[in-house]
Amino acid sequence: MAQGRFITLEGGEGTGKSTLSRGLGEALRARGRDVVLTREPGGAPGADAIRALLVSGDAGRWSAMEEALLFAAARLNHLTHTILPALARGAWVICDRYYDSTRAYQIAAGGLAPATLETLNALIGAPAPDLTLVLDMAPSAGLARSQGARAGEDRFEQKAIGFHERVRAEFLAIAEREPKRCAVIDASADAGTVLAHALAVVGQRL
Ligand code: TMP
Repeated sequence: MAQGRFITLEGGEGTGKSTLSRGLGEALRARGRDVVLTREPGGAPGADAIRALLVSGDAGRWSAMEEALLFAAARLNHLTHTILPALARGAWVICDRYYDSTRAYQIAAGGLAPATLETLNALIGAPAPDLTLVLDMAPSAGLARSQGARAGEDRFEQKAIGFHERVRAEFLAIAEREPKRCAVIDASADAGTVLAHALAVVGQRL
């Protein structure tokens, strides 16, 4: 049976992950791949219900630990119902955010102990992605792009700019620590250039 591939897209607010996800999906389907586009938090009915709790309401509604537990519950539901079945049938899964977002948002920016993620990943049996594309750009520019784009889903966007700077720095640090799994892409370029860069990385690595 064909072997599936698990690609994750990471980056701060407004870095163009969903646009890239659609572009990559189209390009890979044109090459005959079975492609599943999905996202976190969400990607399965239970996880979508948890998403509504996480992305709306006051910024202070949940502590970082409460968030980490909710994201992990959503992730387990998403893995069980969407990601693992797709990989098992040989599909290429493109997932907009995954556990690196927990490391960047809840640990580096939110202040939780780094070991929290290893514990949660072990509890839910989260597999490592085959490839992670980190979309990088200045948070001020990303926030300007994303603000007002999705009414009612702005709980994290409301956080101070310093929070978003820590998120960006952590995504870059993850890519530096795990160069085999990760590649950094300049997200300030136009969408066509970003897609071409991403496709080149996919072609080299997978
Ligand atoms: P989105 O804006 O990419 O749809 O993601 C929703 C928000 O959730 C975004 O601000 C980042 C945040 N997030 C975390 O804080 N931790 C996580 O583990 C994930 C998956 C997302």
